[in-house]
Amino acid sequence: MNILIGGAWPYANGSLHLGHIAALLPGDILARYYRLTGKNILYVSGSDCHGTPIAIRARQEKVSPKEIADRYHEEFVECFQKLGFSYDLYTRTDQEYHHRLVQQLFLTLLEKGLIYPKTIKQTYCITCEQFLPDRFVEGICPYCFNQARGDQCDNCSAILDPIDLKDKKCSLCGSSPSVRDTEHFYLALSKFQRDLEEYLNSHDDWRENALQLTKRYLREGLQDRAVTRDLTWGIDVPLKGFEGKKIYVWIEAVWGYFTAARRWCELKGVPWETYWRGDVTAFYVHGKDNIPFHTLILPALLKGYDDLHVPDQIISSEYLTIEGRKLSTSSNWAVWVPYILQNYHPDSIRYYLTINGPEKRDSDFSWREFIYSHNGELLGAFGNLVNRSLVFIHKSFEGKVPEGTVNKEIHSQIDVLYRQTGNKIESGEFKGALEQIFQFIRKSNKYFDERQPWVTIKQNPSDCADTIYTCVQIIANLSNLLSPFIPFSSKKIREFLSIPENTWQYTAVSPLQPVNQVEILFQRINKKRIEEEVNKLKGSTV
Ligand code: MF3
Ligand code: ZN
Repeated sequence: MNILIGGAWPYANGSLHLGHIAALLPGDILARYYRLTGKNILYVSGSDCHGTPIAIRARQEKVSPKEIADRYHEEFVECFQKLGFSYDLYTRTDQEYHHRLVQQLFLTLLEKGLIYPKTIKQTYCITCEQFLPDRFVEGICPYCFNQARGDQCDNCSAILDPIDLKDKKCSLCGSSPSVRDTEHFYLALSKFQRDLEEYLNSHDDWRENALQLTKRYLREGLQDRAVTRDLTWGIDVPLKGFEGKKIYVWIEAVWGYFTAARRWCELKGVPWETYWRGDVTAFYVHGKDNIPFHTLILPALLKGYDDLHVPDQIISSEYLTIEGRKLSTSSNWAVWVPYILQNYHPDSIRYYLTINGPEKRDSDFSWREFIYSHNGELLGAFGNLVNRSLVFIHKSFEGKVPEGTVNKEIHSQIDVLYRQTGNKIESGEFKGALEQIFQFIRKSNKYFDERQPWVTIKQNPSDCADTIYTCVQIIANLSNLLSPFIPFSSKKIREFLSIPENTWQYTAVSPLQPVNQVEILFQRINKKRIEEEVNKLKGSTV
């Protein structure tokens, strides 16, 4: 079986914050896990370099959209790398290759009648002399009467036509726009209604948020959607007479999964069909605001284009709040990834965002919990088990794994742990998987305490050897079991114990094997930092 994992494509219009990482991290856990099981896997994503958010930012800063995209793409690459994200290919949507394949998609669907032209009325700003793309129109939502922008109301989630907003304003100049005729292309989503209903019905294992939202769209009936926009920045509509129109980001960016995967296959000399036909399982990992694009639009494109493999698993996260409040980039109520990476261990971030992952409901990031979980779980439970066992070997066994036998019960617990953790990861329960491993770590610490090796070393050396030998086996296997979650510390253990590589099965370390110089896995964080961080967050709010 081949595994395709698609991580959502962040907009290159501003820095990543912890909300992004909470939603994207499951993709890396899956990728790392499946690699350990020996499967053929391909994990792709990239920066979404088109679209209005980038154009808006470019205008604000009076630079070109390309400059904005370059700046944030480079920052994303660095952040993902420091966080240990193991993408096989992390690319960007402003690549020639992507443009060409998106245009090909467009023309294929056009030929099949799944994309068709239509004259519509659109908001036009006389002052700015241009048609206004979605997000450039602000006004009152006709359904809930809250302030809304563009094509979706953030308050009631209604899908909007910007024309229907009340008291419309051009977000560029503030004047009220008029309405003019223009020709655009539509994706015939309605033609996929039956097909997509059947598709949904065969996936009752999706997360509740994906099921509910997708059901709602299908119940209300799928509407054909405009897939071109009047923009200066994006992928040209590849037809004469449509110069100046661009292919809309929502069929364009989602097609990035296909173009990136295909690109990677080309570079590696692998047939691209490996991940799009036949025995494939495809995971798509994103936040809940992206659900319909992955459960309806992408499947429609894949089926329409050439009956390619549609998403199997939808790993759609709820939201992450910060200190109990809704994250907001515009008011700077956010923890920015470059900042937290500069000051904290990437495994602490990964651990926290997994064990407190917004899997089934919103979850919260608080500096108190973050620092407590680092000091308590990572350092206190896990780091301590590793450190005291290996230091003991240096002190009492001349730096070599003692000649002992492994505790049978613990051996079989470890076997069970591989199976259970694997099952949980495969079904998208990352939090539960990591909790189980940490339960086992706490048990292991108890085992160490109860066996009192510091006493038995004198009174019953062979018992002591068994204890420490067992602890080494525990640690070696924790390096495997934890590597999808906290890869940096797992790697350190591998180095301490000279384990050549991680696998997803019981790994034994032989007696008398030398143990390398041990260093502390996690440094204690002073509790004073909690207040400092919270003050900094509050102080920077606008
Ligand atoms: N850039 C968009 C967003 O962040 C789309 C992300 S996922 C995509 O919401 F694959 F659909 F592009
Ligand atoms: Zn205007």
